[in-house]
Amino acid sequence: MVFCAIGCNEMDKHDDTRTVQSGTNAHKYEGAVTMPIFTTSTFAFESSDAVEAYNRDPAGHYLYTRYANPTIVAVEQIVADLERAEASLLFASGMAAITSSVLAVVRNGDKIVTTPSLYGGTRRFFRDILPRYGIEVAFAPSNVIEDVEPLFDGRTKLLYLESPANPHVEVVDVKAFAAAAKKRGIVSAIDATFATPILIKPYVIGIDLVIHSCTKYIGGHSDLIGGVVSGSFEAIKKVEEYRRTLGGVIDPEGASRVGRGLKTLAVRMDRHCANALQVAQALQESDKVSELFYPGLSNSPWHALAKSQMSGFGGMICLSLKGGLGSAKRFVDALRVIINAPSLGGVESLASIPVLTSHVNMSPEELGLSRVNEGMVRLSIGIESATDLIADVHQALDAV
Ligand SMILES: Cc1ncc(COP(=O)(O)O)c(C=O)c1O
Repeated sequence: MVFCAIGCNEMDKHDDTRTVQSGTNAHKYEGAVTMPIFTTSTFAFESSDAVEAYNRDPAGHYLYTRYANPTIVAVEQIVADLERAEASLLFASGMAAITSSVLAVVRNGDKIVTTPSLYGGTRRFFRDILPRYGIEVAFAPSNVIEDVEPLFDGRTKLLYLESPANPHVEVVDVKAFAAAAKKRGIVSAIDATFATPILIKPYVIGIDLVIHSCTKYIGGHSDLIGGVVSGSFEAIKKVEEYRRTLGGVIDPEGASRVGRGLKTLAVRMDRHCANALQVAQALQESDKVSELFYPGLSNSPWHALAKSQMSGFGGMICLSLKGGLGSAKRFVDALRVIINAPSLGGVESLASIPVLTSHVNMSPEELGLSRVNEGMVRLSIGIESATDLIADVHQALDAV
């Protein structure tokens, strides 16, 4: 396998520069400025001796694209560099990254401890699939450490977090959780998709495995499905065994689009954060909104925590409308600039109703535990004009 050799410790460059310049090694291919797409499934060897040499030490050579490919590795280097991690692995989706990373850590008889606010797909993997393989998943009653720590026991091998978390944009205390897991020799993992590697550095804070759905902000244009996990060489080597066997690797074209998205990630995040704050402030003024969640608002219960561990508050807003599902549907259907679509993190603003999308088919108990109600709307604020977005939100509120 080919791991990324990162240069981040040697150079103290800003993320804006790293996203554009790091890792590509493109120039070694005919002087290319951007990394070519290696649309090949397999790689030729000069001789059988060369194959034997590869088997002894694969470093610097390629055999088969499910194991490694120059385009994929180049993008993995950029992510590792941004995370200040030792290595990264790209996957065909965020869920492929999550499932392979978790399976690389836990075995039959082990226990995972997790928080209640999770992406629906992750929750289904934990609730429906892992127990079939003898892996217990304990969901804490809240996202605060005092409610999570008592669940740790001798069988606990993994602490799994999401921050900011679906759908309330709730921020968890990453430093405290990382320390609590480390103290007990428990592997910690976080899905930091909402924050991106620009707004938080969980690996630096002490988390072992940092996961993102690249489908969202990293790709940034709603035109790809991908995922990535980063960590130490040792931890990523274990995940790689699962990626090559379960087969969830991204294809080179997808990796190339992830790489293109990364180049503008820092710039886009600035605009997502600025726009979301203005839209949240506009929503705050409406008496039709019963709950509003955006960590950038100074009255958010997570504002201080977010400020202490993130360099921006992100582009995700969650609100509840008085009047339940009927109001939520009228609001979303009246939007003219913001598009009614699930997913998040693209340049275009999107709105979705969690009970119809990410939390569909959940029992009332599960919705209660996740604190999701029928009047809830999740907004992924894009990079359009803030003035247009605010006008759109105002006219849609009038229609409620
Ligand atoms: C926070 C979060 N993590 C993971 C995923 C799964 O990503 P993917 O759809 O790329 O598998 C999603 C999808 O919406 C998500 O919102």
